[in-house]
Amino acid sequence: MKILFVASEGLPFSKTGGLADVVEALPKALVTMGHEVSVVLPRYRNTKASAVVLPSLTIPTGDGLRFPAVADGTAVAGVRYFFVDDPDYFDRDQLYSVQGKDYPDNAERFAEFSRAAVEIAKHVYPADVIHCHDWQSALVPVLLRTLYESDPVLRGVPVVFTIHNMGYHGLYPREALKRLGLPEKLFHMDAMEFYGKVNFLKGALVFADYLTTVSRKYAQEIQTPEYGHGLEGVIHQRAEHLFGILNGVDYSAWSPETDTFIAARYSPKDLSGKRVCKRDLLVQFGLPVDTLGIARPLIGIVSRFADQKGFDLIAQVANELLSEDLSIVALGAGEPKHEQLFRELAARFPGKIGVKIAYDNAVAHKIEAGSDMFLMPSRYEPCGLNQIYSLKYGTVPVVRATGGLDDTIEPFDPRTGYGTGFKFEAYSGQALLACLRQALSTFQNERAWRQIQANGMAKDFSWHASAAEYVRLYESARKARNQMAAGTSN
Ligand code: ADP
Ligand code: GLC
Repeated sequence: MKILFVASEGLPFSKTGGLADVVEALPKALVTMGHEVSVVLPRYRNTKASAVVLPSLTIPTGDGLRFPAVADGTAVAGVRYFFVDDPDYFDRDQLYSVQGKDYPDNAERFAEFSRAAVEIAKHVYPADVIHCHDWQSALVPVLLRTLYESDPVLRGVPVVFTIHNMGYHGLYPREALKRLGLPEKLFHMDAMEFYGKVNFLKGALVFADYLTTVSRKYAQEIQTPEYGHGLEGVIHQRAEHLFGILNGVDYSAWSPETDTFIAARYSPKDLSGKRVCKRDLLVQFGLPVDTLGIARPLIGIVSRFADQKGFDLIAQVANELLSEDLSIVALGAGEPKHEQLFRELAARFPGKIGVKIAYDNAVAHKIEAGSDMFLMPSRYEPCGLNQIYSLKYGTVPVVRATGGLDDTIEPFDPRTGYGTGFKFEAYSGQALLACLRQALSTFQNERAWRQIQANGMAKDFSWHASAAEYVRLYESARKARNQMAAGTSN
């Protein structure tokens, strides 16, 4: 099958979060299974292209035309890359926002990107199925099933849309439709209208052939008001076309046996390298490396700093938390209020918490390897990758039981020796604290701790099974769309 991925970020070219990991690893896995995959990404600053595929596409806007080029990113690991190249829109410092504020022209940027992706599917890479991700590519299904409805090339091409995060809608004033050259009929409650505004994500939820999200639990959660971000009704209506497919991870990038970012390699058979990594991590963060410092349980955090990630729980119980015998290392960047919280904690508890406000892949790897525990107290978490990476590094996850965190982490039971981590349910600082205290007390029992580490390191979350689920879905989407297209042409 020929599959075209459309996404706003993907490694090895661009990344702000887990979407980029998935957009790299899933196509690679599909290629290994014998499929042909291309990925369309924006050409951001620092994205190197090797040639021009098309010097200029013709992209309509409300009051004119724009002419992005299509650049060739060659093939990486058998996956072909195309970049939508419009320096005015994409050659910027950041991908979506600066200092926590979205770029004011994000609607225009990602409408152009989506329109260009549709043209690529038509002229450059005629795919059997198009797979889009999150709101930035949500206009692809909308365009295909409205303006391009009778296009003989695209009519039979199904779109699978993956929700990586229901919290980001692409929400704009009604006038945006006109500005983007989209038909006014889309301003309808059965299309893109959402409480008087235009909602890109809703467009995809309505028009895509199939919807997926990145864990089974999250597929259930987003049908409820607590997790649906106002779109639970729309999701619920499409429940028969919605599937939860758990993300895999790429162990060629995230394994302590081969990781070149960390101070020493190690494996389940011999964890001595992990101690070297812990020492190195403490040094990196300026925390004590004397005997007591080394012995103290070290808790790692690597995160986008966003409300989703639950750091207000840490704020609620900071004093009690940091009076425990533990150290914390935190790496993150994002919303200023969360950056501020961690800066303040570092100032108030020197020697106990080390903080880096940055995006730094090498340090992320060092934290996975050098920490004893990994903390993810998320308010919601569609899948979460870091806790899965942690398992492989023998770093025990302490997580809130939501979305993919709940699906991937099994609570440790000291009687049976079964389980891979520690989980709490209620979204409260006290629940977090109680759970962490349980983890800290288990940490004192060396045998039990070795058991949890071994259980986690033995888990296999590679992409194989999930990629096969996507293939099955692509196939049924193709079948259904072909039947529909045949029906409409009669
Ligand atoms: P999300 O996509 O919601 O941010 P995930 O857990 O799915 O959460 O994925 C986050 C990915 O981004 C992981 O690969 C993680 O290592 C990486 N990451 C997040 N914040 C940082 C950071 N400050 N520095 C380096 N890597 C980061
Ligand atoms: C999103 C989610 C995260 C998920 C990632 C990749 O950014 O917040 O939970 O792992 O996408 O699907």
